[in-house]
Amino acid sequence: MTARAPLIAGNWKMNGLRASLAEAAAIAKGAEQSAARVVICPPASLLHQMSEALAGTRVLVGGQDAHWEESGAFTGEVSAEMLADAGAKLVILGHSERRTARGETDEVVAAKVRAALRAGLEPIVCVGETLGERQAGQALAVVTGQVRGSLPAELAGRAFSVAYEPVWAIGTGLTPTTAEIEEMHRAIRASLVELFGAAGADTPILYGGSVKPSNAREILHAAEVGGALVGGASLKAVDFLAIVEAAA
Ligand code: 13P
Repeated sequence: MTARAPLIAGNWKMNGLRASLAEAAAIAKGAEQSAARVVICPPASLLHQMSEALAGTRVLVGGQDAHWEESGAFTGEVSAEMLADAGAKLVILGHSERRTARGETDEVVAAKVRAALRAGLEPIVCVGETLGERQAGQALAVVTGQVRGSLPAELAGRAFSVAYEPVWAIGTGLTPTTAEIEEMHRAIRASLVELFGAAGADTPILYGGSVKPSNAREILHAAEVGGALVGGASLKAVDFLAIVEAAA
């Protein structure tokens, strides 16, 4: 892991009611002494309450997506400014569940990244290949292509991270080997340096996809892994805290 504090982000996806705020509070309590940056990205409906409940703790709150416009006639959408107004400090963009189910292209993701920067949010930009692409030997080309297409030049000098989430590892219990993770993270690092020069050497590259307490330590200490984006295992404080601890 790089010298900077690892970033451990929990993506709650479409999970969580007000009763789940107790779980977030338990995460904040357990993470008090951690050196990691810890973030919870709840559904938008919980953002404001969670940011108030976690105020004064080390745990930050983030969004899971944002529209590229600031406001307007976009039924059902939430803008980056709205997330920031509700207390979010970061935002996940380009998650594969949105790239696949909502047809989000690299261009759309890049527009959303610009919106996040406009609103003062720190983007976590997701990339990752499908199983078919990996089996066809295209994983490196697909992912580095997503990195180049989804990261606008405006990111230069701004805080952001990239999350490598192989689509086939999300919610399946399957993970790439450590060697496969390192190979991909090195390729992403090279693309970041190409795009952003020396600053690209410092951008955290998170791994996501079936991270759990039992595999977190090995993954988090692999070369070029600067943290984790955690789905299912972030919903229970005890599991998420074990992952936060593994980052130390
Ligand atoms: P799981 O940890 O449930 O596999 O989800 C990963 C993910 O999609 C995080 O954004």
